[in-house]
Amino acid sequence: MKRVLVVYYSQSGDVTRAAESFTQHLNIPEIELTWECIKPRDNYPSPWNLYKFFDVFPECVNEEPPEISPPKFNQDEKFDLVILAYQVWFLAPSLPIQGFLKSESVKVLKDTKVITLVVCRNMWHSASEMMKRMIAEVGGIHIDNVVLTHQGLPLATFITTPRLLLTGKKNKFLGVLPAAGVRDEDIYALSRFGKRLANNIEALSDYSHQPMLKGLGAVEVNQRYVIPELIGRVLYRPWAKIARFFGKQGSWSRIPIICIFAVQLLFAIPIVLLFSTLIQFLFASLINRKIASYVDNLKLPSGVI
Ligand SMILES: Cc1cc2nc3c(=O)[nH]c(=O)nc-3n(C[C@H](O)[C@H](O)[C@H](O)COP(=O)(O)O)c2cc1C
Repeated sequence: MKRVLVVYYSQSGDVTRAAESFTQHLNIPEIELTWECIKPRDNYPSPWNLYKFFDVFPECVNEEPPEISPPKFNQDEKFDLVILAYQVWFLAPSLPIQGFLKSESVKVLKDTKVITLVVCRNMWHSASEMMKRMIAEVGGIHIDNVVLTHQGLPLATFITTPRLLLTGKKNKFLGVLPAAGVRDEDIYALSRFGKRLANNIEALSDYSHQPMLKGLGAVEVNQRYVIPELIGRVLYRPWAKIARFFGKQGSWSRIPIICIFAVQLLFAIPIVLLFSTLIQFLFASLINRKIASYVDNLKLPSGVI
């Protein structure tokens, strides 16, 4: 009997559905599947109000997560595999998931194989690298990473994702923009990963640290997002530090700085995109190799094909 733990957090249900589809073929007598939904002590509304949405930004970037309620599993329990399903908030793993990674319960990852499943609009690079680091810090063995992004072109999701987050509306918008969130077909297709695991049950507890999901298209790296994300990450840090200086999440004293951050972000996004295109165009010969090696890293551990 192999023991698999699924740790997840979800607001719209997309991450939950992704994890359920992923594990569909693991519901077999040879596997004991344990589900753990992370419950943060702080309340994150869904849909969000605009201020609360931006007010979580500093803690996401500064890695100051909330406490979480004690999970049902015992932190000293041994699992053969942990599947960690999470979403991206401000280029970082969401606060509830960071809360789990900083809690005592994270001991469950030590010397245990971990597969990450990340769901987001389209900017997952920094969060994924942070997640790899956090798993390594607690002694987990990160064997695979699967990425699922929202449907539609970036310009469309720039409208449909905030609309979903702030109103809860998922339907097609204005008759032309696609529905928000993850495409149902993409969610169903995740079952191929669980099928691979179910067909290789013995490998779950072998001593190799080899990926198990190679060749299944676990991640697709869009090179165009590399520079905008890196710039975004660099710009986010000072803002997060300054906002934190003015107070904690929810405090009145930081309302002005959070509002200023939100307004400048609206202008910063198109400027950063334009700037990144220019950098890529002007300095292609200088930076292409560096970008290619970063992209190779992002593809790890599962690889694109
Ligand atoms: C506060 C907040 C910040 C977000 N930041 C990002 C981001 O930086 N990059 C991204 O691709 N998606 C971002 N998203 C979108 C979520 O990752 C996406 O909507 C995900 O599907 C949510 O899954 P869930 O509804 O199951 O929790 C953000 C969402 C929230 C609520």
